[in-house]
Amino acid sequence: MSQTVLITGGAGFIGSHYIRFLLNTYHDVKVMNADALTYSGNLYHLRDIEKDHRYQFLHVDLAEKEQVKKIFSRRIDQVVHFAAESHVDRSIQNAEPFIRTNIAGTHLLIEAAKRTGIGKFVHISTDEVYGSIVTGQADEQTALAPGNPYSASKAASDLLCLSFYNTYQFPVVIIRCTNNYGPCQYPEKLIPHLIRRLMDGQPVPIYGDGKQERDWLHVRDHCHAIDLVRIHGRPGEIYNISAGQPMANIHVAKQILDLMGKPTSLIEYISDRPGHDVRYALDSSKIRAELGWAPAIPFEQGLEQTVEWYLQHPDWWASIEQSRAERG
Ligand SMILES: NC(=O)c1ccc[n+]([C@@H]2O[C@H](COP(=O)([O-])OP(=O)(O)OC[C@H]3O[C@@H](n4cnc5c(N)ncnc54)[C@H](O)[C@@H]3O)[C@@H](O)[C@H]2O)c1
Repeated sequence: MSQTVLITGGAGFIGSHYIRFLLNTYHDVKVMNADALTYSGNLYHLRDIEKDHRYQFLHVDLAEKEQVKKIFSRRIDQVVHFAAESHVDRSIQNAEPFIRTNIAGTHLLIEAAKRTGIGKFVHISTDEVYGSIVTGQADEQTALAPGNPYSASKAASDLLCLSFYNTYQFPVVIIRCTNNYGPCQYPEKLIPHLIRRLMDGQPVPIYGDGKQERDWLHVRDHCHAIDLVRIHGRPGEIYNISAGQPMANIHVAKQILDLMGKPTSLIEYISDRPGHDVRYALDSSKIRAELGWAPAIPFEQGLEQTVEWYLQHPDWWASIEQSRAERG
């Protein structure tokens, strides 16, 4: 019998890539996408699969109990939970939506999933829950030390999930991944933000000295890891995912300038983000050894293709502009 996988936040960046991955990889899968279509949700990402009979969209706010209950009136075998408020800068301005969706929404979702009984619940978390890793790498046992309201809300949801495993044997598996990049990422995030600025002939703002290190992973490599964890991941376990190549933000900015044929004089250093984590670095040897995962897309190649994608999709930029205009 075909499996029904509930994807939350499937109109967002990573969720939409994962939906496409599922439909392209498995003939007999059914996918339900539950998304509130907040500012970062965009059905443009899924326009090519809207009519696929295996796919269904549910316009649902996960922080609303009755709406969550309704989702589970259908048969669901597995859940992959992406939905979240995901941008650190926004959490610094106002943490409330982060508490509401990331903590309260996750709680409603795992309560409902526990009541109906599901085979597996994959909770998509982040490397940011470990806070700044000044030297070495964080493994799955490293203590949580979130440094901003976004990462604190993600850490809280991780702990709730683990408590449900411990207390009720709820079959949850947690994934903590480093920064993703690729097509269809909302342009408040570093890579599409810089590309947009350069497309408009504007300078590119870089926080502080630009030496903050992030370990970029192509979104398709992340999707492959998520799928291995969905199928083979052991309940109650955490899996770190990383390319294992931390690099400074300024280095990434210079590569984008180079790919777009722009001078480095366009770099504009601005005041640092408050509480900016200096470095994230993950040890991902567990998923590599246990599930045989490894990234397939080298950063230079992935970045070049990504820049190209943004340059060649004015219709995607138009969909972002239209959604911004509609929201006012
Ligand atoms: N982008 C990254 O680099 C990265 C890295 C590691 C982990 N993550 C995690 O991956 C997940 C997805 O990130 P993303 O970059 O795709 O985010 P995104 O902001 O692009 O997408 C989030 C999606 O969640 C939906 N959503 C928000 N609040 C909702 C609610 N109350 N009910 C239903 N849907 C709601 C939005 O409409 C949107 O479609 C998040 O949990 C994030 O913490 C992201």
